Amino acid sequence: MKHDIVEKSPGLLIVLVLIVVAIGGLIEIVPLFFQKSTTEPVTGLKPYTALQLAGRQVYVREGCVGCHSQMIRPFRAETERYGHYSVAGESVYERPFLWGSKRTGPDLARVGGRYSDEWHRVHLINPRDVVPESNMPAYPWLATGIVNGEQVQAKMATLRIVGVPYSDEDIASAVEDLNGKTELEAMIAYLQSLGLAIKEKRS
Ligand code: HEC
Repeated sequence: MKHDIVEKSPGLLIVLVLIVVAIGGLIEIVPLFFQKSTTEPVTGLKPYTALQLAGRQVYVREGCVGCHSQMIRPFRAETERYGHYSVAGESVYERPFLWGSKRTGPDLARVGGRYSDEWHRVHLINPRDVVPESNMPAYPWLATGIVNGEQVQAKMATLRIVGVPYSDEDIASAVEDLNGKTELEAMIAYLQSLGLAIKEKRS
């Protein structure tokens, strides 16, 4: 039996298994690169403004993703709490993705517009001032940290190379737009922008 040859030779078995797994993987993954639903932005999706992008950088730096996901799964318990489930077309300008998988705190995919800017300001400086039982860390230094406009401008230029539709004007005005802005202002602008492309909110 030819099959015996494969079963008795571990090297050959490994090679054949790898080939089978690779074909299976490619069949699952490759179509995603060409499907409209995963590559086209949803209608109304806008690239982050310079200020929002600056806030996103702070979000990455502070590791907020370690406690907050940005990925609403298509289950009733999630959509009732957070709003419309997340779709791939909302993430096409996201680099790196911040979907996360750990939820010590709530999902933030649609937190935009849920609270006032003032609520976020107080909450980020000391969460317990608005949510007494909160175990989220306080981030008071955001209020005095000043955003680095040149860095954000360079990031915008880089994002444009990988397909985010920034205009020359968006990039040229970034440094001026960010002049003197605090990290707290940037973070609030970022949080308030999350999830707005899909209007349906939690019921
Ligand atoms: C140690 C885990 C932890 C980290 C790190 C953390 N959070 Fe939280 N976050 C929580 C918890 C728990 C809550 C729920 C209680 C509350 O509202 O404070 C929360 C709530 C929130 C809310 C309100 C969400 C809602 O729908 O009510 C926002 C906004 C938020 N966090 C933003 C941030 C940002 C921005 C950062 C990074 C600067 C961050 N969090 C870091 C644990 C964390």
